[in-house]
Amino acid sequence: MAESSQLLRVVMLLTMYFLLFQRISSALPPTPAGTLCVPRERDALLDFKAGLTDPSNLLSSWRGVECCRWTGVVCSNRTGHVVTLQVKSDWAIRGEIRPSLLTLRHLKQLDLSYNDFGLKHIPTFIGALGRGRLMHLDLSLSNFRGRIPPHLGNLSDLVSLQLNGMRYAYSRDLAWVSRLRKLQVLSMLHIDLSRAVDWTHAINMLPNL
Ligand SMILES: *[C@@H]1O[C@H](CO)[C@@H](O)[C@H](O)[C@H]1NC(C)=O
Ligand SMILES: *[C@@H]1O[C@H](CO)[C@@H](O)[C@H](O)[C@H]1NC(C)=O
Repeated sequence: MAESSQLLRVVMLLTMYFLLFQRISSALPPTPAGTLCVPRERDALLDFKAGLTDPSNLLSSWRGVECCRWTGVVCSNRTGHVVTLQVKSDWAIRGEIRPSLLTLRHLKQLDLSYNDFGLKHIPTFIGALGRGRLMHLDLSLSNFRGRIPPHLGNLSDLVSLQLNGMRYAYSRDLAWVSRLRKLQVLSMLHIDLSRAVDWTHAINMLPNL
C-alpha cells in the first residue's frame, strides 16, 4: 500500500515535470540558439536596408542574428515576429522602400518619416503591408511625390495615417480614404487636394474621425 502511494507520487512528480517542460518549450521562440528574431524576417530587413544609403550609419546596429534588438525594430516577445518598424533619420537616410517589407507579415506599425526617398512615387505595394493589416503608417516629410496610391485604401485596419509635408504629392480621388473605416487619425498637411472632388464626402464617411 505504502509502496503504491510512493509510486503514485513519483508518477505525479514526473507528470508535473513533463508538463512544466512542455510549457517552457512551447514558450520558446521557433529559432535556434535562443534568438527571438525570425530568420526570414531578418533577411527581409537586411534587404530593406540594402535599398537605403545610410552615410551617418544610423542603422549600424542592423547586424548579427538578433534582429529584434536592432534600432527601430520591435518584435512580439511571444512570437518573435516584427510588429513595429521605425526608421526616422532627419533626411540622413536616402533610397527606396523595397518590397521585402512585405515579408514582415505581422507588421502593425511602420514609421518611415523624415527620410529622403528621392521624390519617387509611394510604392503601391504599401497597401499590402502586414498582409493588409497594418494599423499605423507614417510617411510624413519623407520626400515622395506624385499621386498618393489608392492602394492605401486596402489597409482596412489602419487607425492612423500620417502623410504630412509631402509638398509634391497629390490626391485627386479620395474614395480610398472612405474605405479606412477604423481610421482615427488622418493628417495630410501640404498634400495638394485642390482638385480632389470628393474629399469632404470621403471624410464624412469615416465613423471615428
Ligand atoms: C512582453 O511584452 C509586453 C508588452 O509589450 C510586456 O508587458 C511583457 O512584460 C513582455 N513579456 C516578456 C516576457 O518580456
Ligand atoms: C488594392 O487597391 C487597389 C486600388 O484601390 C486595387 O487595384 C488592388 O487590386 C487592391 N489590391 C488588393 C490586393 O486588394
